[in-house]
Amino acid sequence: MAKWNYKKDIDYNAIDIEKIKENYFLLHLLAIASFIEITSETYTENLSEYYKDNTEVVQWLNDDWQKEEVQHGKALKTYIEHVWPQFPWQKAYERFLELYKPLCNIDEFQQTKALEMLARMIVETGTSTMYRTLEAYAKSLDEPILEHLSHNIYKDEVNHYSYFDHYFKYYNQSEKLGRKERFKVIMRRLKKINTEDIKIGYQSLHETEYNDTLKLISYEALQKELHRLTKKYYPYTMGIKMTMQPLNLNKTFETAITPIIRSAVKVLEYR
Ligand SMILES: [Fe+2]
Ligand SMILES: [Fe+2]
Repeated sequence: MAKWNYKKDIDYNAIDIEKIKENYFLLHLLAIASFIEITSETYTENLSEYYKDNTEVVQWLNDDWQKEEVQHGKALKTYIEHVWPQFPWQKAYERFLELYKPLCNIDEFQQTKALEMLARMIVETGTSTMYRTLEAYAKSLDEPILEHLSHNIYKDEVNHYSYFDHYFKYYNQSEKLGRKERFKVIMRRLKKINTEDIKIGYQSLHETEYNDTLKLISYEALQKELHRLTKKYYPYTMGIKMTMQPLNLNKTFETAITPIIRSAVKVLEYR
């Protein structure tokens, strides 16, 4: 059960639209995030299939995780509809699906159940820190509704991370993966976070016809602004801690490996 309701708990009517409606970077960012979140449905089906022999996992994925992720997408979509009512969300989303769906297949999963849980932890690290960044950005824009919305999503993402962590530990009791193997998956998954999803999201926005009142920005401009934003607001300490946690390192190792993780987490700066 989701802990909040996107219709009842967010006061979209209180948004000061004039203040942000010309922030087209924000429109891109929220639209891409909403596409990815809403599509969690497809991803859950595949994940459920992968873990089908574990009813507890399947139940959590379907009853909690998926519903919460989809709610994130719906909340962001509703926000967009209030600020940019002329944005053809559905049309752009349909294009997104065409491009994205072929990438969501079971072959994309990690080779073992513990490794897939680990990869999901990295994805949730990415989303947790991304919404934390968005929350700080909304604060800098003096937009309390977006700040509230991002905060709610951020809290859900951290909670998802904890669940995947719990199941990772469960599977790893039998798989007993070494640190090297865990480290490899973490780094690989970190590298995947921004590139494909954002590119496809951007592409689908730009392959949709718009009304002239909307201004689209170039991919370079989107990357530049994302970079600026993350450089300023990205919660590094939190990102590093969440990334390193599954490695279960002692203090000496932790100090040694922090610079490596720090530069890996830097991919989240959207260079
Ligand atoms: Fe989400
Ligand atoms: Fe999540």
